Amino acid sequence: MNPAPSNSAPSNSARVKITVVGAGFVGSTCAHLAALKNLASEIVLIDVLAERAQGLALDLNQSAAIEGFSSRIIGTGDPEDTFDSDLFIVTAGLPRKPGMSRSDLLEVNGRIMCDVAETIRRGSPDAVVIVVTNPLDSMVSLMRAKLGFPARRVIGMAGVLDSARFCWFLAEETGTAVEDIDAMVLGAHGDSMVPMPRYCTINGVSAPDIIPADRMDAMANRTRKGGAEIVGLLKTGSAFYAPASAAVAMAQSILQDGKRMLPCACLLNGEYGFEGLYMGVPAILGEGGVNRIVEVPMTAESRAQMQKTAGEVNNDMQAMRDLGLL
Ligand code: LAC
Repeated sequence: MNPAPSNSAPSNSARVKITVVGAGFVGSTCAHLAALKNLASEIVLIDVLAERAQGLALDLNQSAAIEGFSSRIIGTGDPEDTFDSDLFIVTAGLPRKPGMSRSDLLEVNGRIMCDVAETIRRGSPDAVVIVVTNPLDSMVSLMRAKLGFPARRVIGMAGVLDSARFCWFLAEETGTAVEDIDAMVLGAHGDSMVPMPRYCTINGVSAPDIIPADRMDAMANRTRKGGAEIVGLLKTGSAFYAPASAAVAMAQSILQDGKRMLPCACLLNGEYGFEGLYMGVPAILGEGGVNRIVEVPMTAESRAQMQKTAGEVNNDMQAMRDLGLL
């Protein structure tokens, strides 16, 4: 996977304001990475635990002299401090505990999304919003419904993370440098996600041409359970380094008009045969958010998997309606 350029201050960084909502491990790592990459002049880290956000911001600011970044981090609990942000990364919410599925978080995190949407709508009506909170596909749908923003400005982070996990497993399996590997995972961010072996390459060589099918399947399955594997090991909390890297790669492509093609949860309007549903698909991310959704040819098997994953998203959507969230 080609890494995003680091420490490349955009010429207009003096005017860019990012807000990271939620000062947990994912949120604070996002703030750290965004600062290291000089993505914004101002990075607001907001949390209901205001002092935690303030403490982390102070710590991050004190690393600036060593790391040489110019972003200023503001830790706060006051929604007004987020006003006029260009981009939000929403990480607020509870993480999974061992044995929980992402859908188990629907109600509690859904209510948090409603509150966050209110703050964004009120103070930053032109912002692009990247949602990271689980269950991802439902939370991004809810966020978009509450914001009423154009769909191109409300995007979910999952495919970049799931693809990066697949890349890592392929790198380990083949003993190849991970930067020579590209992988693609589409569909919902859950056990029904859709790894796309035919779009996995090792420096241009199609991975299924050189890796036995049973090994490709085993790695695809490990990718599907990649988040749960880490939850099981950590015992409290879930993965945060790779999720934060993924969210910040999306933010960078949007803020710098990088036009990277990244798999992410987008509102489908007929693409892939789905209407009005958020699902992980390849998208060109640039100025203003999703510039274009890319439709790639699919095997009958992948198409069937996309139907299954869409069914899971629909179930969560119905559960949110039953809860009165939507
Ligand atoms: C994971 C969480 C972020 O997959 O959903 O690790």
